[in-house]
Amino acid sequence: MTRNQSIMDVIQKRYSCRTFKGDPLSAQVVELLSRSVSENPSGPFKSVIRFQRIAGTQESMNAMKGLGTYGFIKAPSGFIVGAVKKGPFDLEDYGYAMETILLSATRIGLGTCWLGGTFTKSVFANKMEAGPDEIVPAVAAFGEIAEKSRMTEKIIRWGARASTRKPWSALFFDRSFHAILGSVEAGPYQTPLEMVRIGPSASNKQPWRIVRDFPFFHFYLQRTSGYYERNKKYFGMADMQRIDMGIAMCHFELTCQELSLKGEWVTDDPRLTNLPDLTTYVTSYRAMAP
Ligand SMILES: Cc1cc2nc3c(=O)[nH]c(=O)nc-3n(C[C@H](O)[C@H](O)[C@H](O)COP(=O)(O)O)c2cc1C
Repeated sequence: MTRNQSIMDVIQKRYSCRTFKGDPLSAQVVELLSRSVSENPSGPFKSVIRFQRIAGTQESMNAMKGLGTYGFIKAPSGFIVGAVKKGPFDLEDYGYAMETILLSATRIGLGTCWLGGTFTKSVFANKMEAGPDEIVPAVAAFGEIAEKSRMTEKIIRWGARASTRKPWSALFFDRSFHAILGSVEAGPYQTPLEMVRIGPSASNKQPWRIVRDFPFFHFYLQRTSGYYERNKKYFGMADMQRIDMGIAMCHFELTCQELSLKGEWVTDDPRLTNLPDLTTYVTSYRAMAP
């Protein structure tokens, strides 16, 4: 356990682990994880979210067998489950907040995996006693990483092209979507942007796009055609790509904080014309003088 690693190291170390050892966790690890869960973190839009750590019992494992999408998990120690009050940016906040917990778990040496589809929501929603004004949009498995991953896990990773990421030229832009932002021109923001690029996303679709118009970094969601509609219809899934946006915001802001690049989230849509298809403005990060 190396608790003083930088957030950049933690983000680089994180991957979706689907094969765990199944051993009980040490009291110290449970204590550290419980601490970050009980803080009930929120996101930049301040939605109200409650989180809980749930043990990997037979019942919660059975919940995983229901609505299969593309993955399943072996022998996790438990699940992190959250319920968010419905509101305009509830899913973005949920993505941001859950990711802060998962990065804390990674920092203490645990493996984690976001699960948006491979679980029966009602079991976890019941555990959370979620009210009609709340949703349980996704959960995450955690546990000690097994020494050897299974063939199934390798196939899932291959299927989602899990180790590949889109290049900078597809993700980051300069003042409009017509000009690419190179990593050198990004200056001190090269690292926060890179930490967005390597983040997790549902089916590894990487829907985030960022347009820099200094001091602003405008965050856009570029949807995968039919993805939400299909997953909602067949699996009753929430809008995963909005959760992905929250994760991107989390990686960006935590990295800026660590590099002492001050800033704040603002709504300041530059109303760019000629947006690419299926692309919508979400929010902006305004850099501030140190
Ligand atoms: C919101 C969200 C939902 C996800 N849902 C699932 C899931 O249901 N099943 C699964 O096996 N992986 C799921 N993943 C993991 C992604 O497939 C994974 O992040 C992506 O393939 C990139 O791989 P990496 O996390 O190892 O870097 C999800 C990830 C996110 C961010």
